[in-house]
Amino acid sequence: MQLRLSPDMNAASVRTVAESYQTFNPRAYLQNNYMPPRANFTSEEFVVPWKLRCLADTFATGEICGHTLIDIGTGPTIYQLLSACNYFEEIVATDYLEVNRTEIQKWVLGEDPDGFDWSPYIQHVCKIEGKGEPWKEKEQKLKKKLKKILPIDVHQPNPLGSLLSQPADALVSTFCLEAVSPNRPSFDQALQNVTTLLKPNGHFLMIGALEESFYLAGEARLCVVPVSEADVKESFAKSGYRIHNFRSYIMPPSLKIGVDDVQGVFFIHAQKSA
Ligand SMILES: C[S@@+](CC[C@H](N)C(=O)[O-])C[C@H]1O[C@@H](n2cnc3c(N)ncnc32)[C@H](O)[C@@H]1O
Repeated sequence: MQLRLSPDMNAASVRTVAESYQTFNPRAYLQNNYMPPRANFTSEEFVVPWKLRCLADTFATGEICGHTLIDIGTGPTIYQLLSACNYFEEIVATDYLEVNRTEIQKWVLGEDPDGFDWSPYIQHVCKIEGKGEPWKEKEQKLKKKLKKILPIDVHQPNPLGSLLSQPADALVSTFCLEAVSPNRPSFDQALQNVTTLLKPNGHFLMIGALEESFYLAGEARLCVVPVSEADVKESFAKSGYRIHNFRSYIMPPSLKIGVDDVQGVFFIHAQKSA
């Protein structure tokens, strides 16, 4: 059964989510999700290499390419752009929080000696892509293509305001919409809002949490709307997408480490209707 809220109640719930993000700590978030045990590159039984595999396989088809790719809710992470950067001239990172946009900016500029070390990720992606690309080259390529880092609010009908004039050839988004939406109608609305940033026939690759209700990022405890595989497929269909691929991952007990209550992860490749 779908929850129905008045527009005022929904706006209030969205504001509560926004407030909860004010104490989001990028470093704690990275520590919780992008270090061992979750970031263990020895096997795709671990969640991080599983995600990288989904993206590498999909981009390797060569079907998803063009001038501009927008990443919705980039956060403090760049792993989701490593396979994409071979196929687009320009990559636009976006996030609601300035702390996260700054984290990405510092990585691009190589300014922070204490910054998060993405080199094991870049090396792993070069390995699974199997093209013999030296990892330093990929790193430079992504830094060069990350031309804009913009503020975004997926709850606005035009999430980027007037910052981008042309719709993108493709969208990527990882762990954003369910993590910033207080309920299913709000998730659906956010999906419709970001869909306006995509060209007709454009591709959308999304990775997200299954059946999660919260996660931690330092002092911040963020509420997540729990979604099932069927929910995700239904939301994409309702927003006018054709689903090309759907994969899911069950979080093994060894990776349930108290930083969230995620039960699994989904990957969806969908194409906007013409
Ligand atoms: C769970 S994190 C995901 C970060 C990263 N994409 C990843 O894969 O780990 C959710 C991100 O959504 C951002 N966010 C919060 N509210 C948002 C909003 N209204 N619109 C867009 N992004 C938002 C947060 O700042 C945070 O970076």
